[in-house]
Amino acid sequence: MEYYATKSERYASIVRRLESLLEGERDFLANTANMAAVCYEFIGDLNWVGFYFRQGNELVLGPFQGRTACVRIKIGSGVCGTAAEKAESVLVDNVHQFEGHIACDAASNAELVVPLIEDGELLGVFDLDSPDIGRFDEDDRAGVEELVRTWLRCTDLSPLKALAGDA
Ligand code: SME
Repeated sequence: MEYYATKSERYASIVRRLESLLEGERDFLANTANMAAVCYEFIGDLNWVGFYFRQGNELVLGPFQGRTACVRIKIGSGVCGTAAEKAESVLVDNVHQFEGHIACDAASNAELVVPLIEDGELLGVFDLDSPDIGRFDEDDRAGVEELVRTWLRCTDLSPLKALAGDA
């Protein structure tokens, strides 16, 4: 693993890696799958990372890295549904102390969920799980939010906007 003096330097390098991977390619599924893979490989100490996309008042599982996960989450339920409802990132040190947490992989202890918002519309969430209690801090929140902005900017979101339309 490469060495970086600070976490934000490390995230800056992951953002550059993601940019070079997505450069010249806007395909929704390809960019989305690569976003999950880059984060899983380079953020470190994760057991799950991936997308849930909004369909009406539900979040439905998208591309991810890790063990199989629950498919549908109601907006407002669990950590993902809470981040979607509030339209802001949610950082949980210990998911077992988060009321309503939805357990997918028993190895998960800490979680960070960043909403996907484009032109004021909630399109889904990006979810990261770690086996390490307290794994995520404000630097991780800022770093992952930057990665999400990069993915939003570089990707054709039209398939997602069609899905999110209130069904
Ligand atoms: N723990 C999440 C569910 C998704 S999995 O972690 C992949 C939640 O409470 O929303």
